[in-house]
Amino acid sequence: MRILITGGAGFIGSHLSDRLLAEGHQVVCLDNFFTGRRDNIDHLLDHPGFELLRHDVCEPIFLEVDQIYNLACPASPVHYQYNPVKTVKSNVMGTLNMLVLAKRVGARILQASTSEVYGDPHVHPQPESYWGNVNPIGPRACYDEGKRVAETLMSDYHREDGVDIRIARIFNTYGPRMAENDGRVVSNFIVQALRGQELTLYGSGEQTRSFCYVDDLVDGLVRLMAAEGRHDPVNLGNPVEFTIRQLAEEVVKVVGGTTGVTYKPLPQDDPSQRQPDISRARNWLGWEPRLQLEEGLVRTVEYFRHRLKRRNRAAVPTLDERLTSPGLLD
Ligand SMILES: NC(=O)c1ccc[n+]([C@@H]2O[C@H](COP(=O)([O-])OP(=O)(O)OC[C@H]3O[C@@H](n4cnc5c(N)ncnc54)[C@H](O)[C@@H]3O)[C@@H](O)[C@H]2O)c1
Repeated sequence: MRILITGGAGFIGSHLSDRLLAEGHQVVCLDNFFTGRRDNIDHLLDHPGFELLRHDVCEPIFLEVDQIYNLACPASPVHYQYNPVKTVKSNVMGTLNMLVLAKRVGARILQASTSEVYGDPHVHPQPESYWGNVNPIGPRACYDEGKRVAETLMSDYHREDGVDIRIARIFNTYGPRMAENDGRVVSNFIVQALRGQELTLYGSGEQTRSFCYVDDLVDGLVRLMAAEGRHDPVNLGNPVEFTIRQLAEEVVKVVGGTTGVTYKPLPQDDPSQRQPDISRARNWLGWEPRLQLEEGLVRTVEYFRHRLKRRNRAAVPTLDERLTSPGLLD
């Protein structure tokens, strides 16, 4: 099949590209390179089945494709809050443009939604039937509400026009090719530990998250896309719950050495608990995560070790430096 991945040069999108190419599909990778990196897909540029398009999903596009994975959207608070209106646009206009395309060419379309649609949940763990507790005017709303509207658009295009939709509610995912300065807790801790810096814990460190290794997540996305007639949202994440303090201890154990901890206040609307109920993914897709946290951290730490070494040699601009330079963010 010919498969479009929007946000294909990002963390998850690049792993999904690897997987689909390995299965013999053709991949059209579309990205505006806001948070995506050429580095992530360099190894694919000479692959005969791989095509790269620099494009912004907020603009319409016409392509002949059989499937669309709509991943284009900055995923970490530092990035999605950098230009909140643009984040809303990417979620709303971007999803709309992809749905128009899907309808026009009869493609099946999967939306990368998020556990953030549950906000700071009152139900724990979160099943797909839970409608969430989201602050619609807070600093995270551009992402949370943007993704909720994306789900609404998907559902309306399915009801009104019969578009063959899939909705994946993705929980915290980690692995190689995460950006190192994006404020996500796993990459933050790993980079700080590798640099011998104190790990920054927000709040008491007792808030919980579950962490899914990227290969497991990609497997869930591919299974969901392939499943017939599954138009309702499906949680994809690892149900094993850790406190942030436990995560910090695991990271220090894998990196080695001794590292202290600095405490900072919890950001506004930061959820205190997050754990997926994955019964639906188990029943519908026969899916569950395989890799345990320690093994996943070993692979991720190895990636960051190499990446930091290369950065030291090449003086590549950091993400923070890139974020302060003009381009792409109107
Ligand atoms: N990583 C996670 O833990 C997680 C959790 C829940 C949901 N998700 C969702 O999965 C998707 C991929 O996330 P990721 O972790 O790979 O993040 P990422 O930032 O690495 O990837 C997002 C990609 O989308 C691109 N992009 C952003 N806005 C765009 C636009 N307007 N037009 C074209 N390209 C654009 C970026 O350049 C980047 O390559 C996102 O939609 C995110 O919301 C991720």
